[in-house]
Amino acid sequence: MQTNRKIHVALLFGGNSSEHDVSKRSAHNIYDAMDKQKYDVSLFMFTKDGVLLGDQASKRIFDGEEEDDVVADEYPKIDVHNPLAPILALQEVQDIDIFYPVIHGNLGEDGTVQGLFKLLKKPYIGSNVLASAVSFDKDMTKRILSQAGVRNTKYAVVTPENKDAMTWTKISQELGNTVFIKPANQGSSVGIHRAVNEQEYVDGLTDAFNYDFKILVEEAIAGPKEIEISILGNEKPRASKLGAVRVPDSDEFYDYQNKFVDASGVVFELPVILPEKLTNEITQMALKAYVALGMKGLSRIDFLVDQNGVPYLSEPNTLPGFTNISLYPQMWEVSGISYSELIDQIIQYGLAEYQRNSKIKYDFEELGTEHVGKKEYNLDE
Ligand SMILES: Nc1ncnc2c1ncn2[C@@H]1O[C@H](COP(=O)(O)OP(=O)(O)O)[C@@H](O)[C@H]1O
Ligand SMILES: [Mg+2]
Repeated sequence: MQTNRKIHVALLFGGNSSEHDVSKRSAHNIYDAMDKQKYDVSLFMFTKDGVLLGDQASKRIFDGEEEDDVVADEYPKIDVHNPLAPILALQEVQDIDIFYPVIHGNLGEDGTVQGLFKLLKKPYIGSNVLASAVSFDKDMTKRILSQAGVRNTKYAVVTPENKDAMTWTKISQELGNTVFIKPANQGSSVGIHRAVNEQEYVDGLTDAFNYDFKILVEEAIAGPKEIEISILGNEKPRASKLGAVRVPDSDEFYDYQNKFVDASGVVFELPVILPEKLTNEITQMALKAYVALGMKGLSRIDFLVDQNGVPYLSEPNTLPGFTNISLYPQMWEVSGISYSELIDQIIQYGLAEYQRNSKIKYDFEELGTEHVGKKEYNLDE
């Protein structure tokens, strides 16, 4: 029944990835932009140790208090011997209508918190467990993309088990003399290396193994244009105009340093005007990938375009940066959807997805012993 009750949104942010602070900023901007006539908003921050702080403590951080001070106040109140301690704060809110995770990377984009929402039987914004997990794992993503016929770079998977066979000679013969080495389940360019010789390859792999047991080694796109696009919606997603990220010529690629430490040399072009054919191709590839990977709600999809103008889908981001200067909302802004309208739509898509799933039957017939199959034992006498 339709009532005029406000929608109670639980905004979750923080987390134990290198994007903890970006997540705080994204959540703060989202909170400020949410129409308080329409929404009651509760705040939950995951500390860097993965413990959820409740509304009041999280609000203090939004109000400008030092995170470390708030955490120091709260930790003594938490019963660390309780295995549910990391999520006990959720008891504070019984009547949440929808969870809104704004956690980039680990826990947020890999399907983990989505599993929690599913156990709690609550709606949430964005992609479900499977789509999040698959889209976060660069190897699984590429398998689905290739099966769906979406162009992506050639690669090999290196694990502790096969690494002795994956020599530089073999890799460079198959993938060329410049490769990118990436942990399969990371983000923020953490553990990513460009290698042009055996030493760099071996060193890059050694470092990447600190972050995952599955490492991708990819053919490099020389001097790529980095193009991004925002997708919004569920079964019939829409695509925004394109944006470009230009890293300084002196930098080898869009690495942790120029992404987070000092982004002053990076230029974001919004929208970027590319030849019509290329724009259409990127848009179609992004929409096809979104559906193939089963993404819902929102995703920013990144591309690398080579010097011949051929686009390769690089990676999807199911919970992209969402500060008011982040590319995801800004690409919508230049495409005619304002920041706060975007939040409204993302929430509506989350509620719609929950409604849709609630029609799926999970009940089953109670089984008696008569349904058990007969066993035949062929034992040697
Ligand atoms: N195959 C490639 N060829 C050229 N540059 C690449 C390639 N793969 C990654 N890069 C560079 O590394 C950056 C980070 O890689 P990406 O796969 O997007 O990882 P992350 O999930 O950490 O953002 C890209 O934005 C790009 O600058
Ligand atoms: Mg990236």
